[in-house]
Amino acid sequence: MTTDTSARQRIAALREQLRLASHAYHENDEQLIPDADYDRLMRELEALEAAHPELDDEQSPSHQIGGKPSSRFAEVVHAVPMLSLGNAFTNPVPKPGEDPDKEVRDFVRRIEEVLGRHDPVFAVEPKFDGLAISLRYENGVFVQGATRGDGATGEDVTANLRQIKVIPQQLDGEGWPQVLEVRGEVYMPRADFERYNEQARLHGGKVLANPRNGAAGSLRQLDSKVSAQRPLSFYAYGLGEVQGGQLPATHSATLAQLAHWGFPVSELCQVVAGVDGLLGYYRDIGERRDGLAFDIDGVVYKLDDREGQQAMGFVARAPRWAIAHKFPAQEQTTTVEAIEIQIGRTGAATPVARLKPVHVAGVVVTNATLHNADQIARLDVRVGDAVIVRRAGDVIPEVVSVIPDRRPDGTTPWKMPAACPVCGAEIVREEGEAVWRCSGELSCPAQRKEAIVHFASRKAMDIDGLGDKYIETLVDAGIVRGVADLYALDRDQLLLLKLALDTDSPQALAAQLGQHLQPEGSGDTLNYILRLDAGDSGWRAQVLSLPARFQWNTKKIATRWADNLIAALQASRRTTLERLLFALGIQHVGESTAKALSLWFGDLELIRHLPWPMFKRVPDIGGEVARSIGHFMAQPGNQQAIDDLLARGVQITDAHAPSAKLRAELTLANLLSDLEIPKVTPVRARQLAQAFASVETIRDESAHNFVTAGLPAETANALVAWLDVDANAALLSAAGKALDELLARTPEAGQHSDGVLEGKTVVLTGTLAQMSRDDAKARLEALGAKVAGSVSKKTSFVVAGTEAGSKLDKANELGVEVWDEARLLAFLADNGENA
Ligand code: IVH
Repeated sequence: MTTDTSARQRIAALREQLRLASHAYHENDEQLIPDADYDRLMRELEALEAAHPELDDEQSPSHQIGGKPSSRFAEVVHAVPMLSLGNAFTNPVPKPGEDPDKEVRDFVRRIEEVLGRHDPVFAVEPKFDGLAISLRYENGVFVQGATRGDGATGEDVTANLRQIKVIPQQLDGEGWPQVLEVRGEVYMPRADFERYNEQARLHGGKVLANPRNGAAGSLRQLDSKVSAQRPLSFYAYGLGEVQGGQLPATHSATLAQLAHWGFPVSELCQVVAGVDGLLGYYRDIGERRDGLAFDIDGVVYKLDDREGQQAMGFVARAPRWAIAHKFPAQEQTTTVEAIEIQIGRTGAATPVARLKPVHVAGVVVTNATLHNADQIARLDVRVGDAVIVRRAGDVIPEVVSVIPDRRPDGTTPWKMPAACPVCGAEIVREEGEAVWRCSGELSCPAQRKEAIVHFASRKAMDIDGLGDKYIETLVDAGIVRGVADLYALDRDQLLLLKLALDTDSPQALAAQLGQHLQPEGSGDTLNYILRLDAGDSGWRAQVLSLPARFQWNTKKIATRWADNLIAALQASRRTTLERLLFALGIQHVGESTAKALSLWFGDLELIRHLPWPMFKRVPDIGGEVARSIGHFMAQPGNQQAIDDLLARGVQITDAHAPSAKLRAELTLANLLSDLEIPKVTPVRARQLAQAFASVETIRDESAHNFVTAGLPAETANALVAWLDVDANAALLSAAGKALDELLARTPEAGQHSDGVLEGKTVVLTGTLAQMSRDDAKARLEALGAKVAGSVSKKTSFVVAGTEAGSKLDKANELGVEVWDEARLLAFLADNGENA
């Protein structure tokens, strides 16, 4: 019999490609092709080998498990080999009449045939995407841990495994076999992976391609101190060698036993029966996949009873009693069509790869982030390159690596453009920073738009109904230039905007307006300038002259949106200090920093004028964040924006005196150390504060006197040099004044500001007509009340709006005082908390 040469050549090519990919993957923790491609090539090879048994070869990658153990580690010979699993796939595009789950059904049918049982029972588990590990315990003590290696021999990584906290060093309970080998997966939780990479990108370290590479790379570090810094975890899913002692007769009961002895076993492990049970589990876990804390690439079905497992036995690399049912891959190959940059709220220029559309884990991906210029340089991504893109969980798709063999001729390395694509301002990078920024600040429409989107967002000013699309148009039309302009919007402008957005040409809009407007009065006209840059539909500046007074035909156009938005704007005017600070979009000031600032300082007027070093007194605010707040407040444009907001009726409902906790912090020594003067450490700052009573005396002192006061000459000189710079001397004076002012305004501990409701607990329930619950809460809190979510005997009173339910019943039952809204309003008014 002759074998056709094309099959022979194809088999050789596949073996070579798979061998290279497997070598890179297992021995160098590197990925040449996505898993999905690897699986596909392997299946093709297996099919060809099955069709041409004369070409089969023991050395073919189809018969190998994993990679050769690295000589860097001592070898561990597995007493019981570590096997692999066969794969089943669900066909995403079945032909009519074809069963997409044929492979799973075939697997179950084989078991039914061999065992003569209907609907066998399976232990089902996630297929963790990490690194297989065997842990050996002798008399309950962890003695050795090894990687899978080629299945027969692995690498001794005991020292590194000892760094993983969830792996027990000594087993809990009792009754463990004398020798117990537990097998499972070491993995890196997704959040830790993201955090690790974020740091690596900031500090120019090695970025991990995916959590699995992270786990594999960390575990195969020679230095266990390095691997200790990488957060790894572990789930047990099976056994290796067991000597002396009885284990339960089913896999599921064995896992339960392992959990008792202290091994982490995933809560997602279950027991189901028959094909329907398996497919139901596959769907269920598939739906939960994105929300899990770790990556999985499928689920594993294992015949539950060990006797049945023995009867089924093994084929080449894998058991016949278990199979992995894979999910759609999270990594795919595609081509980079362009690299563009996107300008964010803080001006950060993020490079984005525009991709040839590709399906990744059920979604079409056309863009992927490249994070920053350093990352592009590290990966050397170029336009035209074939790349691996990854989309896992709800994380933005990213380019993981380039496939160097597939680079077309004539590509050039990518360079950050010199000018912002939106406003044309220079793109610059501050020293030591990984991020490039557009220097246009708020004159850059991209930054303005993003700033307004952030300002209006739920956790900021919470302006319901003001979607990104409207903001974009309002900015493009020049109606909204800064956040304060939002509070000047009127209903007519909004209606016009909505109409414009819902129509597709100026002619159509004119026709619409003709239908919908009933002009009234004569003479004056209103000019609305709509610069609707709708790109594809080709609009440009449009000047619309409308009669000054007209009536919208409310029957024909939806006016509710405009009415609701006006109401939402009105409601958002009364806000908390924390929300407003967050809404301003100060770099590095997230929700928690905004909350801390509000708690510690209590007052916008104070915060907007404090010298930056004072912010460092707030726990968790360091120099970088403090400087950033100071920098923001030092920009006249930003101060103007705050003034405009206040002028347009934005009010802070929870202003209060600085926290009493601040008082102990307000010392000259702290101030001097917060100024970040070279060589002036906290110890030196304390010495200075003891020797000199005020900043003014320090300002004019000579180096000689500093030395006399006990400072080393080096420190004294550094201080004098620092003071020589006018800006520094001015900062010192300003900080000194601010210190005195803060001291005057900050109550002593135990002394309360104006709290008529101090010590009272209030519960709000039902709907209030005159204000939102948040508003009521803020005003009650401003008077010192604690606003709680549930009613108890300790509740001082309940405020019940309309349609109050169980909380009102509970209050009545417990005899707690109940106020209606009118009483609340009167009380608030009496205590200066007017609407
Ligand atoms: S059982 C004899 N269970 O998948 C059965 N493996 O391709 C051996 N894996 O090397 C494996 N989650 O790294 C099993 N719940 C699970 C698993 C799992 C992930 C990995 C493991 C193994 C590979 C098999």
